[in-house]
Amino acid sequence: MAKIVASVNCSHVPAIGAAWDLGKTDTPYWAPVFKGFDFSKKWIADLEPDVIILVYNDHASAFSVELIPTFALGCAGEFKPADEGWGPRPVPVVQGHPVLAAHIAQSVILDEFDLTIVNKMDVDHGLTVPLTLMFGQPKEWPCKIIPLAVNVVQYPPPTGNRCYNLGKAIKKAAESFPEDLRVVIFGTGGMSHQLQGQRAGLINAAFDKRLLDNLSKNPQEVAGMPFIEYFREAGSEGIEMVMWLIARGALETAVREIYRFYHVPASNTALGHLILENDSFSRT
Ligand SMILES: [Fe+2]
Repeated sequence: MAKIVASVNCSHVPAIGAAWDLGKTDTPYWAPVFKGFDFSKKWIADLEPDVIILVYNDHASAFSVELIPTFALGCAGEFKPADEGWGPRPVPVVQGHPVLAAHIAQSVILDEFDLTIVNKMDVDHGLTVPLTLMFGQPKEWPCKIIPLAVNVVQYPPPTGNRCYNLGKAIKKAAESFPEDLRVVIFGTGGMSHQLQGQRAGLINAAFDKRLLDNLSKNPQEVAGMPFIEYFREAGSEGIEMVMWLIARGALETAVREIYRFYHVPASNTALGHLILENDSFSRT
């Protein structure tokens, strides 16, 4: 079976990708951010996942306002980095896993989650920045990657509870896949931030810390939080954190927190990063 053994939550701030691409990782502003991922890079290199399911949101790169799928699963063999206005990022083309992706689509849709199946899609910073943070800049990404794009840009986004339950359905789907695969799921975005209006620049570290605490031990409470609370407490873009719940739902109830990193500010956001492993998982 394909077993989702761990989750990685992290920011996908576009300025992080630009800092890497422009060689600014050692500058006083960015060095603490990249240093915060030193442990994570080693952790994932040692883990050697076969596949990453990468939950992120598209930022009007692959989808315009003409078409806004709530959940879009990338079932193609490859996904090119998107041109977001200044040329595509100089990162490898993402190699997908169409067979596992099609299996997840079948299982999850029969479980009444109406995913959009995407057979051609460019992937923007929402997907590539977390890969840069976790792997640096290799010639090829070290494993297959299945993109799962979630609408958190245009109201209404899916509820946290819907995301949490979708994660559970993805877990079930993976476990009925015939081939043995080690899978890690990424939930990206957040944490508190607001990009526009009178509250632009809002950061709520107390809210973020509570969410990090609860995600491992009390995910049901996070899943039950309504949209308006994200908006009020974490800013208009804080809703990106519902994507973290898909990753959490795909793990077992009992997890151990392997690593946490929180840094303010990264661009105009609070950067949060959390690695969880299933309690039952052992590498030996
Ligand atoms: Fe985003």
